[in-house]
Amino acid sequence: MLKQYTEYKIICLDALTYAGNMETLSDVLDNPQFMFVKGDIADQVIVFSLFEQEKPDIVVNFAAESHVDRSIDNPRIFLETNIIGTQVLMDACRKYGIKRFHQVSTDEVYGDLPLDRPDLFFTEDTPLHTSSPYSASKASADLLVLAYYRTFKLPVTISRCSNNYGPYQFPEKLIPLMITRALADQPLPVYGNGENVRDWLYVEDHCSAIDLIIHKGREGEVYNIGGHNEKTNLEVVKTILRVLNKPESLITYVKDRPGHDLRYAIDPSKIHNELGWLPATKFDEGIKKTIEWYLDNKPWWEHIVNGEYRDYYDKMYSIK
Ligand code: TYD
Repeated sequence: MLKQYTEYKIICLDALTYAGNMETLSDVLDNPQFMFVKGDIADQVIVFSLFEQEKPDIVVNFAAESHVDRSIDNPRIFLETNIIGTQVLMDACRKYGIKRFHQVSTDEVYGDLPLDRPDLFFTEDTPLHTSSPYSASKASADLLVLAYYRTFKLPVTISRCSNNYGPYQFPEKLIPLMITRALADQPLPVYGNGENVRDWLYVEDHCSAIDLIIHKGREGEVYNIGGHNEKTNLEVVKTILRVLNKPESLITYVKDRPGHDLRYAIDPSKIHNELGWLPATKFDEGIKKTIEWYLDNKPWWEHIVNGEYRDYYDKMYSIK
């Protein structure tokens, strides 16, 4: 956004919990168009005083607890950040006035699709049908956003994107987890039989879609984002091993995730037809760029893997 809109001032409000990392912002911290504020979106005092001071005109809520396995381990924080945090942000928008509040949601609010019906896709009209405490918290927030549109006429939009991958992704998610572990010749924990399907989108394509929606999307509308790029988890892991020239014997099948969604697949026709959005990065190219980024930015993820994250990893997987 800073590259694209040199006249914009971007304020980043982030609580810097386990997945937040100032090193991620090192390239922009000195940019006069950028401001960082450490704070929790659920903290009304911080949020309201920031709005009072800065009077933002567009608010994009990217802040979320987003890891399904963590939500199974401890649901509470998901409700606090994802639901209450959204309410606090929207109340600040109501009080101080806003041109647009955009909620970054997820395709997980639709639940999952069967593996034997490749003809089925999530559309914006697919009923909400959540599986995990994480997706239930995101669906709750989506309902609240639509309620604020109807009741308070808050100018909102919602996007529901498929799985993202790319630089700076915290190494608890499938792709960076497998890249960083393969580089260390550690076992790669694949849940169940590895046949679950995810619809992968390069992170910059998600960003370009949000950019379009906040500037040109219709108020009160939901837009699905996805690039028709379905892969089984095993296909993804094998691709990573191939690019890194590591043996498939690193693959280790572990106990399945409880309630594990079988397949996600987005129908992106609405955002394509209305806003002309199309993804720019093919998976083969995106995965290579991502792997190169992790190879070139070892200190970024090594600091994470060596820290608190290590204890969490041991607890969740009980393998070394
Ligand atoms: P994840 O990156 O957690 O995203 P989500 O659950 O939101 O789709 O997981 C992507 C897929 O990879 C999902 O089917 C679970 C699977 N998975 C594994 O097999 N092993 C792992 O260690 C992780 C983190 C995920």
